[in-house]
Amino acid sequence: MDTGDTTTKAISPVTAPAGWYVDPQYWPVERQHVFAVNWQFLTHESALSNPRDWRADILAGYPVVIVRGDDGQLRAFHNVCRHRAGPLTREDSGTCDGYLTCQYHGWRYTLDGRLRAARDFGAASDFDPRDFGLFPIKLHIWRGLVFAGIGDNLPDLAAQMAPLDARLKDADWSNLKVGLRRTHLLDCNWKTYVENYLEGYHVPSMHPSLDAEIISEQYKVTVNGKVVLHDAPPKSGAVYDGLWGWVWPNIGINVYNRGLMIERMSPVGHGQTQLDYLYLTPDGEAVPDATIAMSDQVTAEDKWIAEKVQQNLDAGVYETGRLSPKHETAVTAFQSWVGAFIA
Ligand code: FES
Ligand SMILES: [Fe+2]
Repeated sequence: MDTGDTTTKAISPVTAPAGWYVDPQYWPVERQHVFAVNWQFLTHESALSNPRDWRADILAGYPVVIVRGDDGQLRAFHNVCRHRAGPLTREDSGTCDGYLTCQYHGWRYTLDGRLRAARDFGAASDFDPRDFGLFPIKLHIWRGLVFAGIGDNLPDLAAQMAPLDARLKDADWSNLKVGLRRTHLLDCNWKTYVENYLEGYHVPSMHPSLDAEIISEQYKVTVNGKVVLHDAPPKSGAVYDGLWGWVWPNIGINVYNRGLMIERMSPVGHGQTQLDYLYLTPDGEAVPDATIAMSDQVTAEDKWIAEKVQQNLDAGVYETGRLSPKHETAVTAFQSWVGAFIA
């Protein structure tokens, strides 16, 4: 039986139990202990280039809105009105009139989150608008990428990104702008997809066209802090040429010849995962057709396998397996990080 390198005698960890991916009881725990307490990718600075530009989004079940104030500052809030929890937006993005206005009964908030007018509320002696500002969300901008922090005790994002900074050195991303957005919806738990993303073991069998572009024997995955780096040397003329990074808990940062593709692996409840691809190119130039075609193909292949694995986990015949010490060290690390909260 071919088990790879038999001389190293490394241990083969036991996988996380199937229940992690099957039992919906973990979802609220993960929202609170994984997503609320870590930085989540929100957007790129260039998506809100002018004052009063806003974008709405949902981060692990938390609806949020980010807006650029007239002072040029980006600020983010829970997209939740303080009256009776209405939404401040209807669309995904837009430019406002200088206020965020609740769509339910029309309360208006300034772009720094203060309640400016509770429309036609009536006289109330015990109601002070100063007590009803929007709930703020922390922001941290790293190389133009805007990250949102829902909770307290967030990690030092600059320190977390240090392994990527070390690889990127003085790469200039200052002229990058949003070139394309793509979204894919997968019927699987977010961890099922992330774990697939964290290993190159499946590339020869699942992605023949990608495999043809890289030197598979030299595919290497390294874990550095909470950053995972994939190195896959390209054959000459390949579309994929650069660095594939991943940052805990759910962001891929992929560097190509002329830009970046940020891949957010967004949990949509327990049983679905939305992949939000944001392509950043010089001055927002069009993404080459060959890049999109390759991305669509690889995504379709990963969607197929992740959904099949989820069906098999749900079937209930599999409890645990074993992880390859050669190829699945990042999966091992990921399961240990998740296990710190939900095991
Ligand atoms: S819920 Fe927002 S104004 Fe009523
Ligand atoms: Fe894959």
